[in-house]
Amino acid sequence: MTEQAAEFDPRDFRRALGSFATGVTIITTRDAEGEPVGLTVNSFNSVSMNPPLVLWSLANEAMSLPAFRDADYWAVHILATDQEDLSTRFAKRGEDKFADLDIEEGRGGIPLLKGCTARFQCRTASSYQGGDHLIFIGEVLDYDHFENPPLVFHGGRYAHATQRAHSKPGEPYLAGSFGEDFLGYLLGRSHFRFFSRIRPHLAEAGLSDEEFYVLSAMTLKPRMSSVDLDKLTSGVLDDCCTQTLDSLIGRGLLKSEEKVADESGYELTPEGRELALKLISVAKAVESQVLAGLGPDEDAVLKSLLNQLLGVLDPEVGSIWHPDENERPG
Ligand SMILES: Cc1cc2nc3c(=O)[nH]c(=O)nc-3n(C[C@H](O)[C@H](O)[C@H](O)COP(=O)(O)O)c2cc1C
Repeated sequence: MTEQAAEFDPRDFRRALGSFATGVTIITTRDAEGEPVGLTVNSFNSVSMNPPLVLWSLANEAMSLPAFRDADYWAVHILATDQEDLSTRFAKRGEDKFADLDIEEGRGGIPLLKGCTARFQCRTASSYQGGDHLIFIGEVLDYDHFENPPLVFHGGRYAHATQRAHSKPGEPYLAGSFGEDFLGYLLGRSHFRFFSRIRPHLAEAGLSDEEFYVLSAMTLKPRMSSVDLDKLTSGVLDDCCTQTLDSLIGRGLLKSEEKVADESGYELTPEGRELALKLISVAKAVESQVLAGLGPDEDAVLKSLLNQLLGVLDPEVGSIWHPDENERPG
């Protein structure tokens, strides 16, 4: 006799299941009319090495159920970290999910998507009813895999997969002193080291760090009001802001504008804009060099965490980066 399971709160049960981090796949096939069919799935798992078997489960109410039930072949695509939009597209019910997609054809003409981390072409070996899902076991006939880092799903949200560091940060030499993992040390040293690669180019242009900060920040908007500039510089350049602005104006890189709607403002001169864009491209090249030293997808993780940190330290920062759409250059 089977024991009757307790009545679970569905949301809580789903949340508990969601604590199991998975990859994200799209599984595709063709229906009886030959139309491509597919959906986003994270119930995928490996079953056996010899013979090579994999499994996944499909909800009984899925519109694609008849197509998969009748199909001999299907393909599992392990999505890459930059395929979140594709995952969202294939998680919608029934729509024309393949519109404008560049697809290849696999066994039995099944549609194969590009840009994934790995693809497995399978033939249905068996299927079992498992409660409100149908479980498919497939024999892998062909597979390919690529270097793209995988997309992760955890706690109902997309996530990054990064490797954990091998070594633990060292203990401080002097009790009570900073450790190697003190945030101020990590941020400060990274900042100095990063800018030491850009500074020779600033020196060539005769610019200080502060002048470069204002010059590059001025490219965010065609016209920067004093209020905008205050937001950008407060807590960064407080004391030397006026001096920095005067120096840029004196060199013909920036001009002070007449008052508009009771607010004074600033605008880059054509020379200022040209110099700013040249130095920004140098800074981006330095960024690429530095980030190339990290593992796959770790640059995205680092930036995402630093963004969160900035949100904590400087909650106003978001308003700088999301200006009025009308002000964006076309
Ligand atoms: C990350 C993620 C994982 C999913 N995993 C599954 C799954 O394993 N099985 C399933 O049937 N649906 C799963 N879904 C939901 C389907 O993708 C969704 O219901 C889709 O609309 C089904 O398409 P269809 O109705 O056109 O067949 C998942 C959705 C997401 C976003």
